[in-house]
Amino acid sequence: MASITETLTGLFSRAFAHCGHEPRFGRVVESQRPDLCQFQCNGALAVAKAARKNPRAVAQEIVAALDKGDIIGNLAVEGPGFINITVSDSFLSGLLDSVRRDDRLGLPRPAESKTIVIDYAGPNVAKPMHVGHLRSAIIGQCFCNLLRLCGHKVIADNHLGDWGTQMGMLICAVREKYPGLSYFDESFSGQYPQEPPVSIDELEKLYPQASARCKADPAAMDQALRATLELQNGRPGYLALWKHFVAVSVERLKADLDKLGVTFDYWLGESFYQERMKSLVKRLRDRGIARESEGALVVDVAAEGDTKEVPPLLLMKSDGAFLYGTSDLATLEYRMETFAPSHIIYVVDIRQGLHFTQVFRAARAAGIVNEKVSLEHAGFGTVNGPDGRPFKTREGNVMQLGDLLDMVYEKAFERMIEAGVAKDCDEDEKRDIARKVGLAALRFADLQNNRESDYIFDIDKFTQFEGKTGPYLLYSVVRIKSILRNAGEKGLSGGAISPPVTESERDLMLVLGRLPDVITSAADSLAPSVLCDWAYTTAQQFNRFYRDCHVLNEKDKSRQASWLSLIKLTLDELTLVLGLLGMEAPERM
Ligand code: ARG
Repeated sequence: MASITETLTGLFSRAFAHCGHEPRFGRVVESQRPDLCQFQCNGALAVAKAARKNPRAVAQEIVAALDKGDIIGNLAVEGPGFINITVSDSFLSGLLDSVRRDDRLGLPRPAESKTIVIDYAGPNVAKPMHVGHLRSAIIGQCFCNLLRLCGHKVIADNHLGDWGTQMGMLICAVREKYPGLSYFDESFSGQYPQEPPVSIDELEKLYPQASARCKADPAAMDQALRATLELQNGRPGYLALWKHFVAVSVERLKADLDKLGVTFDYWLGESFYQERMKSLVKRLRDRGIARESEGALVVDVAAEGDTKEVPPLLLMKSDGAFLYGTSDLATLEYRMETFAPSHIIYVVDIRQGLHFTQVFRAARAAGIVNEKVSLEHAGFGTVNGPDGRPFKTREGNVMQLGDLLDMVYEKAFERMIEAGVAKDCDEDEKRDIARKVGLAALRFADLQNNRESDYIFDIDKFTQFEGKTGPYLLYSVVRIKSILRNAGEKGLSGGAISPPVTESERDLMLVLGRLPDVITSAADSLAPSVLCDWAYTTAQQFNRFYRDCHVLNEKDKSRQASWLSLIKLTLDELTLVLGLLGMEAPERM
């Protein structure tokens, strides 16, 4: 099913061709001035410029040539030569009537299904997940949902940080605390214990201490680096200990991510690529792609035209240890071999931009990824506290994800009580609703921003039931559900959607008719905020419509049936889009 803009673009392209111009100038877009018209075509200006003609005259000519059929309501040439377009009410209602009957709600089927790897969340073993990983998880999950809906094959991979220096730091910290453990005894040849020697809580306490110590004391850092290297080289005791670290961490991470509703197809951490890193580094050295530099091995990635210096990618340190970039390069090779994707998207803090530039260039230089495959760092901004600095707890530590979620649920619960929401529900149901509201608040607050911008974590604002918030949207959806429930109880049901009778009804129809364009635009530019804007406008438009049109009391039965269908379509479209954003509305509240 063609979207409204596609249908109009078809008509206008034919008119341009008819007048001897290139059809591509017939592109129709949504109006920048919804107060004046619904859609516009600006192609006459471009045509006139190239042909040195008067743009208004070209526009008049197009309007005269256009086959208006029963699609166009009104056309007007405005300003220097814009064509303002309004569609006919019968076209609009007819379109929505087919959309509501379509199981894909009018969304196009994909012309070609691509294989897309999405790398998101990527928390680190033994380090608590913080708000940065939260952003990555929320945005990455939204990309997966969106691209899957568009018909692509998505491979969701959680690139766990489990092989870096923090592992060596922890090994040293545990050795210092429990020196007698068999993991540290190099002559030990028995079975290492099944039970982990430390809990995740203990690990998460040990890590910041160990890291602070290594920062302050070069000797401690030296030891940590050595332990990391020995681990990477397969020292059995360290490997056994490390496996415990990973196991207890992953259990905690899974629980946190589950709570957040974030899922993956794979959890392939950096360590998974150890053997591949070895062979890759050797090959790159043999082929002269990597070179030695002060004992280390690097790949030059500077390019002509760089405005900022792009330093070489470090593959191996002089002590033989591998780095973050080494595992990313090996990961790329593995992904290409295993999944043969046409796109790989990294949802990682924008501050890692240089790292990805280096890795992507090295991967191309080494022939690991050819030019046809798109590598994209879909970076995101920082979550700041009200002081404008990266968000921390009151004590100045990074906020752990689990604690953060609990805080959000609690706030959502308070807000519900305050707003008199869910007052007829029992405590359990209220708690359940508060979780949905809290998650919606968190997700929407994040996704509605321009992805690359920083935003301020203001939980008081996010959880409000008024304004552009997750709770407002859920509340609107629940309201629609309750109207439809009431109608059902009265024995009323929907029928064919007929042309609008009020302004607000027409506006609602227009926004519902935009869905395919909204999905395409969000997917093309990887911009969840486009979905958020649409959802908010739709909820507002619905509330206006419902204020003007007294659906349940309407005397004209066919009009009432049409309105009920329109409401149902609003519900279906909103549910779909909120689902993409990872938001789920309760049945009532
Ligand atoms: N573990 C990394 C971090 O916490 C993020 C991993 C992102 N993915 C990747 N392939 N580098 O910063």
